[in-house]
Amino acid sequence: NKKKIAVLIGSLRKESFNRKVANQLMQLAPDSLELEIVEIGQLPHYNEDIDQNPPTEYVDFRRKIKAADGFLFVTPEYNRSVPSALKNAFDVASRPYGQSVWGGKPGAVVSVSMSAIGGFGANHIVRQSMVFLNVPMMQQPEAYIGSAHTLFDENGNLLSEDTRDFLKNYMDAYASWVNTF
Ligand code: FNR
Repeated sequence: NKKKIAVLIGSLRKESFNRKVANQLMQLAPDSLELEIVEIGQLPHYNEDIDQNPPTEYVDFRRKIKAADGFLFVTPEYNRSVPSALKNAFDVASRPYGQSVWGGKPGAVVSVSMSAIGGFGANHIVRQSMVFLNVPMMQQPEAYIGSAHTLFDENGNLLSEDTRDFLKNYMDAYASWVNTF
């Protein structure tokens, strides 16, 4: 039986390189994983006041996170940190207090940037929140994808076999990590 993996993308823009990388990761993943993108852009900023009577966006998102067996985060770096939309998603599914739906499921993070540093800051800030949310993150391999604007053709296909091999190897490793749970 396949493991259901929720894919969360930190960028909200249509032509996002992160979304393109996420699409490739989903295609290259082994059969043991069933990956599905869970959108985060519709979520209102987390506010405990509105959570007294939670909006349907919160309820739906929490249901999807709860139903997942694991998480794959694919994110850009914004000002050396994680984009607020992704952090907001972490926050929404962590509440109400004591009812977090994250815990105990295996995660992994890929950061994607146009810069050579490959979103290192964002990558590790995701890991920092996941320590607290009790999502055990795959340690190795790490994935800091730099020069993202050079990786794709106009149809969103990868230009290099090396990149494809790297991403495929990453998903094989993640599938093994998921299998240990
Ligand atoms: C950026 N970008 C960026 N890049 C980086 O490597 N480190 C950073 O700290 C930042 N900071 C940053 C802040 C804001 C507000 C924006 C909009 C962008 C550039 C970023 O890597 C680039 O826009 C990517 O293309 C974003 O990923 P998507 O949208 O292509 O997936």
